[in-house]
Amino acid sequence: MKSNELRSLYLKFFEEKDHAIIPSASLLPENDPTVLFTTAGMHPLQIYLLGEPHPAGKRLVNSQKCIRTGDIDEVGDPSHLTFFEMLGNWSLGDYFKEEAINMSWEFLTDPKWLGLDPNRISVTVFAGDEEIHPDYETAEIWNKIGIPKERIFFLPRSDNWWGPAGETGPCGPDTEMFYDTGKPLCSKNCKPGCSCGKYFEIWNDVFMTYNKTVEGNYEKLKQHNVDTGMGIERTIAVLNGFDSVYKIDTIEPIVNQVKKLAKIKNEPSDEEYKAIYIISDHIRASTFILGDDKNLIPSNLGQGYVLRRLIRRIIRQGNILNIKQKFLPILAQIVIHLYKETYPELEQNKDFIINNLTTEEDKFTVALKRGLRKFNKILVEKGIITGEDAFLLFTSFGFPLEITSELATEKGIILDLETFRKEFEHHRELSRKATAGTFQSGLADHSTRTTRLHTATHLLQQALRNVLGNHVEQKGSNITTERTRFDFSHPVKLTESELKQVEDLVNQKIKEKIPVTKEIMTPQEALKKGALGFFEAQYQSKVSVYSVGEFSKEICTGPHVENTQEIGKFIIQKQQNIGVGLMRIRATIED
Ligand code: SER
Repeated sequence: MKSNELRSLYLKFFEEKDHAIIPSASLLPENDPTVLFTTAGMHPLQIYLLGEPHPAGKRLVNSQKCIRTGDIDEVGDPSHLTFFEMLGNWSLGDYFKEEAINMSWEFLTDPKWLGLDPNRISVTVFAGDEEIHPDYETAEIWNKIGIPKERIFFLPRSDNWWGPAGETGPCGPDTEMFYDTGKPLCSKNCKPGCSCGKYFEIWNDVFMTYNKTVEGNYEKLKQHNVDTGMGIERTIAVLNGFDSVYKIDTIEPIVNQVKKLAKIKNEPSDEEYKAIYIISDHIRASTFILGDDKNLIPSNLGQGYVLRRLIRRIIRQGNILNIKQKFLPILAQIVIHLYKETYPELEQNKDFIINNLTTEEDKFTVALKRGLRKFNKILVEKGIITGEDAFLLFTSFGFPLEITSELATEKGIILDLETFRKEFEHHRELSRKATAGTFQSGLADHSTRTTRLHTATHLLQQALRNVLGNHVEQKGSNITTERTRFDFSHPVKLTESELKQVEDLVNQKIKEKIPVTKEIMTPQEALKKGALGFFEAQYQSKVSVYSVGEFSKEICTGPHVENTQEIGKFIIQKQQNIGVGLMRIRATIED
């Protein structure tokens, strides 16, 4: 089975069960400053799992682009990936355990869908602990469906509890479905959850009924939700009986191209496989990050730094494989080609992807050569690499910590990571002080233009509320250097005259040269002061509130301009009706 087939089957199955197909959200989370990338299908849906009505209804399904960097050091073996697609279906206070499990079972075993052998499926359920009781109900449902007790395993919280995605938020006990690959048991204790490869996890149904608070408590949610997740790559591998996820249809062409570029004709060595897998995984992740509509670029901060690390690691692994030509754009083209139908943004952002990869490859290829020389010189002179040396390699040659660390390991040296981290932090402190203003928000890029557009977006929200009414609430926003895109609740498209009033009001506030101020307070205080954006903030202990005079007040991580006059002229370019009760405005600024 191919990835596209699995994706379509899944969406079709749940569509037949009255689920609305929603698009994949951005890989760069819009409103969760605690996490750099979208890690699961439920991640962008957190506010809806907590009770906010979703415009598309109570039953949703999609295929979500995800990045998990937690296991980045494991990438290089046959099963780990940083980028993957996750299929998921959700009940937002609609169906619960019985119906969710029945649907999962039908999809897995009915010949009309995946048609897996029911005898090869085992499941795990939450064993309970001091805080929350064991999930006997779920075990009962599985048993009723036909899974004998011997194939129902009760496992602890570390296995059968999922979430929250960030530090706080929706979570709950889960039940996981495993496929028996037919391999022998690795030991007497081998059971689902064991990593030997006998049992392959294919699906996870989470019963999201709790909210983890900042204090670390689990509060019962008002509604019973279901959140499920099936990783496409791993499932395709198991359905095809592959021993490596790198053999599936959406990854193998990349692997083959890497082999070709490295002129590897015979079976690669273990070392070569490791490099090939790292390159293949990281080019997928980099292409998807660059191909996201937010146009994030490689940098030395936050998300941009992860992107830079991924790209530079590809180049270094290419060097290990002796690839002589410029190769990142060649590989990115394959990724774009493989996914452009499902994720059209890749094709739309193709030039951006290729240009950024090219620039980064040009820059780092030169630096890598010089840095490697420096590394070897230090080693000959001192016999060791200190944290300080690693820091020098970072600042002067752009070596991310893990490249130096990998190099050191290859030479049998243990790197003093602690010192390096200290040096690194010290350096960052100094450079932060040297920069006017600190930029910490989840915005894609903190250039002056995005900052101006960001403040303009706050003015836009308030102007919409003044003109249309206080039912207008932000449902999403996305800012690039070109424009701001603002999604909000409102039942119908705005009339020409309403649009004009909104635009005029924003421009009037710009002309009034109002100072923008920031205060730090508890979410409760922010609420009392009437700040907008309270919903997600209530799960944090302190929040920053940005005010534009008396006109606008919002909980926000910034950055913002100091005075509205810096914004320039505000122009609404387009409005769109993007769903039931959901409007979108695109606007830009001119000097
Ligand atoms: N959130 C769960 C997971 O990522 C189910 O979607 O496994």
